[in-house]
Amino acid sequence: MRLPSGLVLFVFLASHLLNHAAGLVSLDVMERGLGLFILVWEKQPGLTLLAAAFAVHIANALASIWQRRSFRLKGWQAAQLGLGLAVPILLAAHVFGTVIAYEVFGVGTPYRYVLARLWVEGGGTGALAQALLVLVAWGHGCIGLHYWLRLKPWYSRALPYLYAAALLLPALALAGFVSAGMQVSALAAQPGWMEALYRANKLTPEARAFAENGALWTRLAILAVVLAAFAGPVARMLLARRDGPKLYYRDSRVLDIIPGATALEIIRAAGIPQAMVCGGRGRCSTCRVRIGTGGEHLPPPSPEEARVLQRIGAPEGVRLACQIRPVRDLEVTPLLPPNATAREGFHGPGHRHGQEREVAVMFADLRGFTQLSEHRLPYDVVFLLNRYFAAMGQSIEEAGGQVDKFIGDGVMALFGVESGRDAGSRQALDAARRMAARLAELNQALASDLKEPLRMGIGLHVGPAIIGEMGYGGVKGLTAVGDTVNTASRLEGLCKTYTAELVVSQDLIDHAGADLSAFRIERVAIRGRGNDLSIRIVPEIADLPV
Ligand code: FES
Repeated sequence: MRLPSGLVLFVFLASHLLNHAAGLVSLDVMERGLGLFILVWEKQPGLTLLAAAFAVHIANALASIWQRRSFRLKGWQAAQLGLGLAVPILLAAHVFGTVIAYEVFGVGTPYRYVLARLWVEGGGTGALAQALLVLVAWGHGCIGLHYWLRLKPWYSRALPYLYAAALLLPALALAGFVSAGMQVSALAAQPGWMEALYRANKLTPEARAFAENGALWTRLAILAVVLAAFAGPVARMLLARRDGPKLYYRDSRVLDIIPGATALEIIRAAGIPQAMVCGGRGRCSTCRVRIGTGGEHLPPPSPEEARVLQRIGAPEGVRLACQIRPVRDLEVTPLLPPNATAREGFHGPGHRHGQEREVAVMFADLRGFTQLSEHRLPYDVVFLLNRYFAAMGQSIEEAGGQVDKFIGDGVMALFGVESGRDAGSRQALDAARRMAARLAELNQALASDLKEPLRMGIGLHVGPAIIGEMGYGGVKGLTAVGDTVNTASRLEGLCKTYTAELVVSQDLIDHAGADLSAFRIERVAIRGRGNDLSIRIVPEIADLPV
């Protein structure tokens, strides 16, 4: 319920900020916008939806505090919690002064009236508090949205635009708020204007006292409830038995099991870094652990956990640390490094840590580049290579493959890591076509700089390979090793022998379901392989059938 209620509140806030931004045009436009805003949010069913979302969101936050077994929070979690708890406290005066005062005393709440109270009567303090409320609520909402959306594969592409919108909207809203506040302050300088405004909007001494007292008591009540919610976990932590059941972490640490705590909370309470991109909400799978001895005492996964485990193709014995609450001795081993990203959470547990898969492998090399670079300035060589790499990299990615590495003036790419052998074979052929077309474009663009056009040779093969994340430090990435990789590299070398742009194994052609019977076939011996390999020789990639 946290997500839908949060989304309703976020939409409400965004529409309110848009309304504030109208103050940059004029007070009248702002008032007209308010009419629409009231129609949506302060009449039925909008009002009920908003009130329900607010109640659910707060109740959810309090319940999650109450259920906590550890207060080791990541920075963003602490910021989101702190800002979220500050919202109702800052909001109390505004709600009592507007919506509730209207419901109880019929106090009118046009922008002029609210701005006069904030900017003129409060001497600017009220306006400052209101601006703070906007920033706090918006910041809380944006953090929540960010940590929800970053689990979506498209999010990193949309992030710059969303980030710009997240900054622009409150900036415009605050500018509109200040502009309208100054307009109202100018009006208030006219003798009798404030009194007439208060009279017209039925601000009586009773209504004023009611709103002020209501806000004060509400703030005190919220503080009391928040303190009570924190008392639960603190008491549980103090009562945790030292001689109770243990969590055996990665064969090296023995942790006390805190009653009712999730394995993730226990691990983090012990100060051990553990990946948890979604903050323990069972969505990202980065907290996944392999369960050892004691797993038989765990209840089976809930439908939500089972769905996430199924999505990543988790084998038996893998669970989400944030979803299991051990009560007996239990052995767990984390499967992702503490700095795992949301992207890593999308992948199954296997192939990052080493798995044999059938993949299509491509090696591509630029022909004659050594001679080409001999009489050029280093700057020109780097420029040329980077344009070539960009063109090849884009072609590979557009076809659905992934660049494994650039080696000198060559490229190695993998296809079908996720989609499988047959799709990967089709993608590899498609990538070869795209690369040849891009190289032709590049040759055209650089015609005046090149003595002769750039040429390339591509080798393609499909078969089993060991896939895994390999490397050291920052130079670490998903790659493949094994006979298939060596063979693809060897086929690329044969391009020179046959003066061809592409040498592709018949295996790959068969898996792609392609017909390359028009091209010459050969059987070649590949070092390290027992049998000869059938290959097709394609002099010009542009002649490949589509
Ligand atoms: S922390 Fe995201 S699924 Fe457990």
